[in-house]
Amino acid sequence: MLTIALSKGRILEQTLPLLKKAGLNISSEELGSRKLVLNTNLDDVKVIILRASDVPVFVQHGTADIGVSGKDVLLEHGGLGLFELLDLKIAKCRLMVAARDESDLNQSTLKIATKYINSTKHYFQSKGRQVEVIKLSGAMELAPIVGLANCIVDLVDTGNTLKANGLTALDHIYDISSRLIVNSASFNTKHNEINRWIARIEENL
Ligand code: ATP
Ligand code: PRP
Repeated sequence: MLTIALSKGRILEQTLPLLKKAGLNISSEELGSRKLVLNTNLDDVKVIILRASDVPVFVQHGTADIGVSGKDVLLEHGGLGLFELLDLKIAKCRLMVAARDESDLNQSTLKIATKYINSTKHYFQSKGRQVEVIKLSGAMELAPIVGLANCIVDLVDTGNTLKANGLTALDHIYDISSRLIVNSASFNTKHNEINRWIARIEENL
């Protein structure tokens, strides 16, 4: 039995075509249901649907053998107990520092709102900047507007969200895409099966 962890939304939407090309199908009835464990066309493969930030946690603990996770999420998780084996080149965006204006970054101690605590601390430490990081779960763009923070660290794709909230992307931290991750124990015990799937997905990327 092989369990694959995916998250609802863009990762599920963009991973399904890759899995389909590799020979794994999920019916529209399964996808349209509110089930969190989905059957596939193969009796020995199931797909579980999680919050994006929980995918590496399930893979780390071996509850899922394989998962698809954004590099942003993996950087926060730290990668314990799993291998990052393939860049699927989907859900591409950039992790960036954004503020209303460049001058908002001219503070001796920068107040930064983000859900990417580890990446933010690591980036500003490498710049020798003193920062106070405020953990938010979403709607980061609001923080500089209401004076909660001087700037944010968030994902940027088209830039429309920043623009709509009067913010500008100032510094680039990391290019993000989704990665295929594998539980390190499963990679040993189910080596052939997992390698076969990876090869099939890779040849169709
Ligand atoms: P959670 O449910 O845990 O809060 P989330 O809401 O961030 O997670 P999604 O919005 O589905 O989950 O994002 C999943 C992944 O897609 C992110 O981890 C990131 O790698 C990527 N991503 C996020 N926003 C964008 C975007 N605007 N354009 C492209 N890729 C993105
Ligand atoms: C992500 C991210 C930004 C937005 C950037 O949010 O948190 O807010 O995309 O994309 P853009 O540059 O193309 O506007 P998402 O759409 O995933 O919403 P969520 O944070 O509520 O999941």
